[in-house]
Amino acid sequence: MKIVIANDHGAVALKKRIVAWLESKGHEVVNLGIDTEDRVDYPDQAARAVSEYCKGGYDFGIVCCGTGIGISIAANRHRGIRCALIHDTYTASMAKAHNNANFVAFGGRVSYHEPVEQLLEVFMSTEFEGGRHSGRIEKLDMLG
Ligand code: RB5
Repeated sequence: MKIVIANDHGAVALKKRIVAWLESKGHEVVNLGIDTEDRVDYPDQAARAVSEYCKGGYDFGIVCCGTGIGISIAANRHRGIRCALIHDTYTASMAKAHNNANFVAFGGRVSYHEPVEQLLEVFMSTEFEGGRHSGRIEKLDMLG
């Protein structure tokens, strides 16, 4: 898969861990996040990732900040982006199966009960169910 990722200073270590894991699995990762603790604003980092994703050719995007909350909100302000703040294997699975999320968000300061790598594995291996969920997603795209 081809994946774009961006982060703020709240998720440098987590971003590096995710990139290393994805690359170890043979995926192509475009890292637009910061690799230092320099402060940056999560709306700007979300915009960078979304802008790159919208160029096409990506399977999905990942955004990370301290909680995952701010950067997921920011990503979702962009038309056509469905960014899911997943926190366990159930929400990782549903984010794809029901919401066909094209972005996922994580928090670098969050204590996950299941490894983020496992959450990504579930998200990436789950198929969108389509059917009644397609119409709901179309309604999302008509908002705002
Ligand atoms: C940055 O300190 C922090 O506010 C940000 O990473 C994120 O957690 C916001 O939602």
